[in-house]
Amino acid sequence: MTTKEKVLMYLIEHKGEVISGQELADKLAISRTSIWKAIKTLQTEGYQIEATTNKGYLLAHEPDVLSKSFLYSQLTDKPDVLEVHKQVGSTNDEAKKLVTERFVGKGVLLAEEQTNGRGRLGRQFYSPTQTGLYMSLIYPNKQQANAGSVTTAAAVAVCKAIEKLTDKKPVIKWVNDIFLEGRKICGILTEGVINFETGTIDSIIVGIGLNVKAASMIPEEFQSIIGSIYTHEETSKVTRNQFAAEIINQLDIMYQNLDHNNYLDDYRERCFVLGRSVTFTEGQTTYKGIAKSIDDEGGLVVKLESGEWKTVRFGEISI
Ligand code: BTN
Repeated sequence: MTTKEKVLMYLIEHKGEVISGQELADKLAISRTSIWKAIKTLQTEGYQIEATTNKGYLLAHEPDVLSKSFLYSQLTDKPDVLEVHKQVGSTNDEAKKLVTERFVGKGVLLAEEQTNGRGRLGRQFYSPTQTGLYMSLIYPNKQQANAGSVTTAAAVAVCKAIEKLTDKKPVIKWVNDIFLEGRKICGILTEGVINFETGTIDSIIVGIGLNVKAASMIPEEFQSIIGSIYTHEETSKVTRNQFAAEIINQLDIMYQNLDHNNYLDDYRERCFVLGRSVTFTEGQTTYKGIAKSIDDEGGLVVKLESGEWKTVRFGEISI
């Protein structure tokens, strides 16, 4: 961590308190001149640090800017790679690039904005600057997990993070769209990267797009469907850094225990389509029925109007 990052971390941990230059110097084992330089740099970067002669420094307000050092400090299981970009095409594409360049390990990539955010089934994922969390997590696929279970676990991780940090109660539309107040606030795109020499999937990329604050200029085609954790009227109390760290920590635990399927009951509790009438298409045929349960592989078990049973494993359902 650089001096600037250490100073920032200390001030964030003591947000709202006046910290003397001497305390910073002692606690961080850095000279007072270096502390002063770091504070100046942070102020020019937009951090509102009040400096009072003879008293010290006060971080009055933490701007909602994605911060690599903050994130790193909050992650329980430290990643091998952590990148925060201002703008990229797609964080999933950046992650794929890393993996195909033979990166093996755990990676976390985030961006303030995506110009080519990708959704499932070839759709676009609208990713305007500074209102959402766009991140891709790279997991080494040691246990040869199936992408379906990772996706299911990721949906639970996002819900649990929101529940822990806010008083909101998000729900899941099978398979991994997260809704709040009837609008989609999060989508997940999980992709496996095949090693062409061995034919195995060596890394799994979990791309998560979470709308935290309400965007101001939503394109018309998305207006009636897109929601966000916080509405225009609400001020966001939780920063995107905090949401990111909590989601990653939650998913890390589930990923390590994927075999035990512990996340499935949490998924079932939040999956609002159970008991409802659903429609889905397979090949040329459209089926209608009642969603009855989620099986142990995360498939949606549907009792069709014909009385037959079918389990949906891929694609999408309409309700
Ligand atoms: C969907 O709703 O269909 C899935 C959306 C997934 C969006 C995320 S944002 C971060 C990552 N990068 C992408 O290009 N897509 C995923």
